[in-house]
Amino acid sequence: MQGNATRPQIGTAEVHIPSGVFAETVTEIQHYTDRLFRFRISRPPSFRFRSGEFVMIGLPNAERQVYRAYSIASPAWDEQIEFFSIKVPDGPLTEHLRKIRVGDTVLMRKKPTGTLVNDALLPGRRVYMFSTGTGIAPFASLVRDPETYEKFDEVILTHTCREVAELAYGVELVRDLREDPLVGDMARRQLRHYPTVTREPFPVMGRITDLMASGKLFADLGVPRISPEEDRGMICGSMAMLRDTKEMLEGFGLIEGSNAQPGSFVVERAFVD
Ligand code: A2P
Repeated sequence: MQGNATRPQIGTAEVHIPSGVFAETVTEIQHYTDRLFRFRISRPPSFRFRSGEFVMIGLPNAERQVYRAYSIASPAWDEQIEFFSIKVPDGPLTEHLRKIRVGDTVLMRKKPTGTLVNDALLPGRRVYMFSTGTGIAPFASLVRDPETYEKFDEVILTHTCREVAELAYGVELVRDLREDPLVGDMARRQLRHYPTVTREPFPVMGRITDLMASGKLFADLGVPRISPEEDRGMICGSMAMLRDTKEMLEGFGLIEGSNAQPGSFVVERAFVD
C-alpha cells in the first residue's frame, strides 16, 4: 500500500501511512540475544534494489516519525525483505522496533542506496567482506546473490562479535546457504566463513584488524597477504572498526571505490542507534 492511506493493524485501531513510503507487513521475527534480532517483511512488488544496499525504515503511529538506515540482509531476488537489527536501550527507533510482532506494519522509504555493491568493486580473484556485529547484514544479502560468485572466485566473510551468541545469525546464514537450491553449490565451493570473538573464549579470538596485522587470518585461510592485484574488500561495522580496517586495507595498497568510480574496496557504516 502506498500514499496517504490507512490500514488496520493488529492491536491498534488504524495505522497512518505517510506518502513516499511503503507500508509492509512483518512476516517473521527471530530474537538471538537481548541485543540482536532479525525480522522479515513483505516485499512491495515495485521495490527494486541491488544486493548490499540499505533503506530507511520506521514505524507508523509514532509521535514523531523516526527513520533509520538499515541494510537489506536478503538478496535482490528474495520475495521478502530481511533486516538484522540491534536493540539499543532507549534508541528512538529500536526501542519500539524490538517489540514488533508478526502482522504489524513497518514503513520503508522507497529509495534504496549504498556503496557495498558488487558494481562499486573492480573485478578480482577474492573478495573479503569484513563485518562486526550487525555489520554482517549487507553481506547476508551479497553472499546469497549468485552475482557475487560470478564476479569473484573466493568470497571470505569475516564476522567479529564481542560474544559467541552474537555470531548465531551468521552461523545460521552460512549453514542454510550451503543447502540453498539457487546458490548452495557456489557457496559450498567459493564461500569461506571466518567468525571471531573478542570477549569470550572461542577457537579464533581477536579483532579482525589484529588478526590481519599478525598474519593469522591469512595463515588460517591458507591465502597470501592481501594484495591490490588479487583482493577486494568490503567493510561494515562501527565507525572505529571502519576507520581501522580501511587504514589497514590502504596499507595493503587497496584503493577505496564508489558507485561512480569502482575501486578495490568499499565502506559502509552500520548506522543504527
Ligand atoms: P572489542 O571487544 O575488542 O571492542 P561493538 O559491539 O563495539 O561494535 O563491537 C563489535 C566487535 O567489533 C567487537 O568484537 C569489537 O572488539 C570489535 N571492534 C570494535 N572496535 C574495533 C576496531 N576499531 N577495529 C576492529 N574491531 C573492532
